[in-house]
Amino acid sequence: MSELPRREFLHGVAAVAAASTVSLNVGATSAADDNRPLNVALIGCGGMGTSHLRNLLQRKEIRLAYVCDVDANRLTSAAKLVETSGRPKPVATKDLRDVLKDKAVDAVWIATPDHWHSPAAILACEAKKHVYVEKPVSHNVREGRLLIEAARKNKVVVQVGTQSRSTAHVRKAMELLQSGIIGDVLVAKAWNSQLRRNIGHLSPSQPPAELDFELWQGPAPERAFQANLLPGIWRFWYDYGVGDIGNDGVHDIDIARWGLGVNTHPDTVAALGSKFFFDDDQQFPDNQYCVFEWSGDGKVGNKRQLIYEQRDWSPYVQEGYENGNAFYGTQGVMLLGKGEGFKVFGPRNKLLEEMSGRFDLVAHHQNFIDCVRSGNRSHADVEEGHLSASLAHLANIACRTNRVLTFDPAKEQFSGEAPDQSMLTRKYRAGHWAVPTGA
Ligand SMILES: NC(=O)c1ccc[n+]([C@@H]2O[C@H](COP(=O)([O-])OP(=O)(O)OC[C@H]3O[C@@H](n4cnc5c(N)ncnc54)[C@H](O)[C@@H]3O)[C@@H](O)[C@H]2O)c1
Repeated sequence: MSELPRREFLHGVAAVAAASTVSLNVGATSAADDNRPLNVALIGCGGMGTSHLRNLLQRKEIRLAYVCDVDANRLTSAAKLVETSGRPKPVATKDLRDVLKDKAVDAVWIATPDHWHSPAAILACEAKKHVYVEKPVSHNVREGRLLIEAARKNKVVVQVGTQSRSTAHVRKAMELLQSGIIGDVLVAKAWNSQLRRNIGHLSPSQPPAELDFELWQGPAPERAFQANLLPGIWRFWYDYGVGDIGNDGVHDIDIARWGLGVNTHPDTVAALGSKFFFDDDQQFPDNQYCVFEWSGDGKVGNKRQLIYEQRDWSPYVQEGYENGNAFYGTQGVMLLGKGEGFKVFGPRNKLLEEMSGRFDLVAHHQNFIDCVRSGNRSHADVEEGHLSASLAHLANIACRTNRVLTFDPAKEQFSGEAPDQSMLTRKYRAGHWAVPTGA
């Protein structure tokens, strides 16, 4: 295990607070210099893209210049939504390169399937656009690192769509943990317990006429279309998603890591997970237990552990929250639901503090826009997104290889008796224009 000095290891919450005032010296296309509306594009107009769109259309400081989707029906609906809100007709295109080559575009919202997140975001950074990209920020560990490099090199804001980072009750909970309300938080837990659905066993078929499946697949290896990739269930396929741990799970994993105060990769990952319930084409586990350990300097009191539990077959909630967190401190415990609120209990389970609240997408958009204007790092900076998404990637690798992983956080490589390092990246479609350089 690698040994990290305590001060480098236990600085998550403080570092995140400090990071929000780090100036990026934002790049050339920034609208930081004036107060004109930001020209933005929505890339990916599906379920989440439409939520972004509806929110963005409420804002006077945003001009929806482009909508982009490889599905003609979704593209038309998104363009109509803009027009019926009384805004000028946006340019509608299926090819994100049309958006990126327009110098007037300041920022893009990317809400595509996961396999497109980093490749599209890297291209956007290279085109000097600020980027709001949905979680998980990457399809694999290597892509996340390349996106950080692209963001820093091009001095653009990259905000990840983990809106809890801007949600008032979650931020308050993190402040309380940092202030020591439950002592030292040695262990944090994140869970994802909900009832998903069976996606069946299907054979390849023709893609629907409205879908450009070639563009949809992008830099992923070419394969035949199958109807149970859509809508939205590409998440459960290795080539396109990160499983539910990288989907709903990563929201709570991100909060757990934040509250635990760890701002590096873990050095040990153990996980068991497979399909316990769904006899269908889903490739990722529906049942998963993952333990991540940060050994710090190895001394008692300086180690930290994050536990993730996933049961996608439970028609009931756990500990009062469908998806939630528990923080176990030396003086108390905090239970938190990012969509509901939190409760803090001290010794002998005395209730010390509670607060309710809802997931706040609007505040997260506001934070991104403020950072584009100011040049500050956002609440969910790409580096935070990378650390949290990497937990999902490492846990999935541990499950697929059925082994305990030791990881070198600085090199971002397996150490010890390692699985193939190529599991930290992916197979791409050879020669595709969106394959990130260095992947
Ligand atoms: N932050 C949140 O709370 C939250 C909630 C739901 C989903 N999400 C994230 O949003 C993303 C989208 O999820 P969804 O449920 O809306 O999926 P979806 O499949 O409904 O939408 C994805 C859209 O992207 C389009 N698309 C695919 N490739 C494209 C490309 N190259 N260019 C342009 N468009 C392309 C698809 O045609 C589709 O319309 C996922 O990454 C998911 O993790 C986040």
